[in-house]
Amino acid sequence: MPDLSESQVEIIKNTWNIYSPDIKGNGCELFAKWFVDNPSHLPFYKKITGEIMGNPEVIKQATVDFQFITNIIENLDNNDYFEDTLSKLSARHKQRKITIDMFERLGLVIMGELIDKLGPDLMNAGAVEACFMI
Ligand code: HEM
Repeated sequence: MPDLSESQVEIIKNTWNIYSPDIKGNGCELFAKWFVDNPSHLPFYKKITGEIMGNPEVIKQATVDFQFITNIIENLDNNDYFEDTLSKLSARHKQRKITIDMFERLGLVIMGELIDKLGPDLMNAGAVEACFMI
């Protein structure tokens, strides 16, 4: 688990709580940006075809992903839970031939979107650093 201070945990919860409820907007835009920057990732989602914005399958997948991240963030103080949940997620993705590099690329897109959507006041240097640590 990342070595986060209490104030860093608060910053992460705060930024994510503002960004994540808007699945139809922020969720779809995240997926759209992700696949524009990394077109080779899209074919892994067999059920996603056509336009990304407003696509019910994208909304469904973004909901699942965002809920997973919300749950991890709510349990940042529980080391065993954090390690266990992430290692299970990692194993399920490995079975699908999804690599660490692909996770890192998605991480960069998420960071870019947080900065873009929340603006430089909220996503200041301290917030960017805290979010990068997770
Ligand atoms: C922040 C990183 C990520 C999170 C939190 C996340 C979360 C999840 C969750 C919770 C599921 C459903 C449960 C499961 O089967 O494991 C899932 C499914 C899936 N994920 Fe991820 N994931 C992430 C990164 C990625 C990346 C980088 C890829 C690369 C393409 C990917 C591709 C998929 C695919 C193809 C599925 C199955 C979709 C289907 O049902 O057709 N994920 N993900």
